[in-house]
Amino acid sequence: MFLKFFQSENSSKLFFGKLKLFNLRLKSFDNLLNGMTNIETHPNAVITALTASEPEKILEKSVLLNTGQKFPLIGFGTYTIQGSKQIFDCIDWALGAGYRAIDTAAVYGNEEDIGKSLRTLLPKYNLTRSDIFITSKLSPKDHGANKVYEAVMGSLSRLGVTYIDLYLIHWPGASGVPMDSKENKKLRTESWKGLEDLHKSGQLRAIGVSNYTVRHLEELLKTCTVKPAVNQVEFSIHYRQSVDLFKLCDSEGIILQSYTSLGGNSHSESLLKDPVVEKVAESLKVTPAQVLLRWVLQKGYTIIPKSLHKERIEQNCQLDFDLNSARMKALNNITTRMKYAWNPDTIV
Ligand SMILES: NC(=O)c1ccc[n+]([C@@H]2O[C@H](COP(=O)([O-])OP(=O)(O)OC[C@H]3O[C@@H](n4cnc5c(N)ncnc54)[C@H](OP(=O)(O)O)[C@@H]3O)[C@@H](O)[C@H]2O)c1
Repeated sequence: MFLKFFQSENSSKLFFGKLKLFNLRLKSFDNLLNGMTNIETHPNAVITALTASEPEKILEKSVLLNTGQKFPLIGFGTYTIQGSKQIFDCIDWALGAGYRAIDTAAVYGNEEDIGKSLRTLLPKYNLTRSDIFITSKLSPKDHGANKVYEAVMGSLSRLGVTYIDLYLIHWPGASGVPMDSKENKKLRTESWKGLEDLHKSGQLRAIGVSNYTVRHLEELLKTCTVKPAVNQVEFSIHYRQSVDLFKLCDSEGIILQSYTSLGGNSHSESLLKDPVVEKVAESLKVTPAQVLLRWVLQKGYTIIPKSLHKERIEQNCQLDFDLNSARMKALNNITTRMKYAWNPDTIV
């Protein structure tokens, strides 16, 4: 039912609103969990950037995309932040705290308010457009050769910018197309071609995907002329991606970015109140949210936490501490498995 909802034409309003939890207490995941421990001994580009001695402050650290652009390790997530006042305040606090990357999407319905807020706020912080890394995403309703160009023009116009730093295919399936239909594959291949053209003409500095599984990525890598720069996926202590996805992205130079690492709007309590997370937080005199986010970074994913509150926005980017191997081990060994966001596994 949930996936049907995402395939429907009018899904954007209720985007993420009716999420079903998928309790993934699968044996194979415990195997993956063990495999993931090994990743720490094989650092990817994000881990290498995170552990580099220069620059010293985490907010200034970035990883290089396959385009050569600097991609900040920490960005500000904006899903469900809406209305001109709320957007303005949150962007104000985020820029004030030091965030220099903002994650939005056509379906979030906030591109226009983000664009307006940036035009007012950049001078306040002595910044210009080029100091800010903006990510937006193609709506599932705009998949296909006939729609992608207009969709990107819409994002550019709503944001009021001449280029977008990174544009992602939000979801491998198209609205209104059954998830088991091969039409999804045809449409997303066309969408990628459209994004490649807009990348080549300079409106999209980098292009990438979101919610792509190994299967979706391997298919894209066979036909693309521009490789995706980023794959943005759900990743948290309770929902871990496979080692195969990590290895594929690493070997193809695709940066992994994590979302819903605090559990999203409805379920952050279960992650933040995890007793192991609380214990590690207490031992370091940081908050559970900071532990959850730092763990994601040390796993090799960039992060885009969202909050409506000034003190949390500030806290979520103050991650200049290290989780040593004993603490990482304790966190890795948490066995709860919950999926908090939509599941792309069955999209053909
Ligand atoms: N590509 C995709 O399909 C996709 C899907 C989902 C999200 N995203 C992107 O990823 C971003 C982050 O994911 P998300 O929005 O699902 O949520 P999230 O970052 O996992 O967490 C947000 C929740 O945690 C709370 N929170 C934030 N900081 C906190 C802190 N320091 N202490 C306690 N609670 C805290 C927030 O509440 P308050 O707001 O009340 O503080 C909110 O309920 C999104 O905003 C969006 O940009 C992408």
